[in-house]
Amino acid sequence: KNDFDYETKNNHLMIGGVDSVELAHKYGTPLVVYDVSKIREQISHFKSVFEDNHVDYEVSYASKAFASVATYQIMKQENCHIDVVSGGEIYTALKAGFPMDKVSFHGNNKSAEELKMAVENHVGVIMLDNFHEIELLSKILNDLDTQTNVMLRITPGISAHTHEYDQTGQVDSKFGFDVESKQAEKALEIVLNNPRMNMLGIHAHIGSQIFEVNGFVMAAEKLVDLSADWHQKFGYQPEVLNVGGGFGIKYSEEDDPIAPEKFVDAIVKAIKQRSNQKGLNLPAIWIEPGRSIIGPAGYNLYTIGSRKDVPEIKSYITVDGGMGDNIRPALYQAKYEAVLANKANDEPESNAVRIAGKYCESGDILIQNINLPHIEPGDVLAMFATGAYGYAMASNYNLNLKPAVVFVENGQDKLVIKRQSYEDLVRLDLEY
Ligand code: LLP
Repeated sequence: KNDFDYETKNNHLMIGGVDSVELAHKYGTPLVVYDVSKIREQISHFKSVFEDNHVDYEVSYASKAFASVATYQIMKQENCHIDVVSGGEIYTALKAGFPMDKVSFHGNNKSAEELKMAVENHVGVIMLDNFHEIELLSKILNDLDTQTNVMLRITPGISAHTHEYDQTGQVDSKFGFDVESKQAEKALEIVLNNPRMNMLGIHAHIGSQIFEVNGFVMAAEKLVDLSADWHQKFGYQPEVLNVGGGFGIKYSEEDDPIAPEKFVDAIVKAIKQRSNQKGLNLPAIWIEPGRSIIGPAGYNLYTIGSRKDVPEIKSYITVDGGMGDNIRPALYQAKYEAVLANKANDEPESNAVRIAGKYCESGDILIQNINLPHIEPGDVLAMFATGAYGYAMASNYNLNLKPAVVFVENGQDKLVIKRQSYEDLVRLDLEY
């Protein structure tokens, strides 16, 4: 067994009370499976931290981690907010019947069309990222003769210890208004002077897959300090402090993260204490977790096919998916754990193997080194914690089809995204 807790029945991996091998046979592979109860549990863990600390809050699911009609419907059932970053995510949320007043719209280059779509659909709050956007939005609000809530995204000047591609809070970042050089203050003045913009609060996001509490506490304190500064200078105090997401999860044995809700507890306590010290009213605290809500709930199932033994070096075991359904190993050197779903309790062999994808790139390796039981073609490999930024970043590279997605809960399975068909691949193609 590896470090993940998993249930087995008849030597098969069970997901949410359903036999994963049966799922692989019923829907085909590669297949993405979500254990929905895990999603709901993590949301409720986050919520109880706020309840226990007696603060106003919102849990806003960062839907870029996995956006689909069914995901948005779950967030609606759980009474969560969501964060969207494109017209496509707004469109999908609308299709899902998600209440638009619970939507925060992020992005460092929202187009005029996207902003207009957000305003016309009464999105809850637009997260302003730069001066160009303030101008664009102002014009749209004038044209439509309407108003909107806004927040300012600031760059907190904090470097989180995570993969370079996952850092966002350092001063040298493409996101948000710089604080030191007073860009944020200038943005605030513009917004406060625009009667069509209701300034709700400030936002900071320091990065993703972070394991240390420290950076979050520093960012939280920075937001309170900025509030105190603005209160003094402009008589304005933000009602909402949004501390972003980024709480790290366990992918492999090397990771030993603290529970995501513990980060939030530290953040909430820091904001309470600092606000108290500064004589400020306690703001509402919003968080935007993506990965920690959806990541651990996801499993990728693959069927094992060919094998190549490189004498005295390594055995390559190839599955029927790869970088097209999970680019994270190739892009971030991300590590994953897996089991043979149809031999879940068998003893692993002593020689480690390498799990390769089927894409035409040497870098398409899903797992560099893993000890599995005796492998035969047709075995089903289940990778853990693939729920965040897996399907969400899927591509049609090599014109492979995007997998199907199935939700399981209480022993029931439900197809929520169909597997693509060859016809889908050429749907947009035109003759020349
Ligand atoms: N809020 C903002 C403004 C963000 O930019 C992000 C993530 C989140 C919240 C959610 O962060 P999370 O809780 O999921 O860590 N593709 C990369 C991750 C990119 C994260 C982008 N922003 C990966 O696969 O590691």
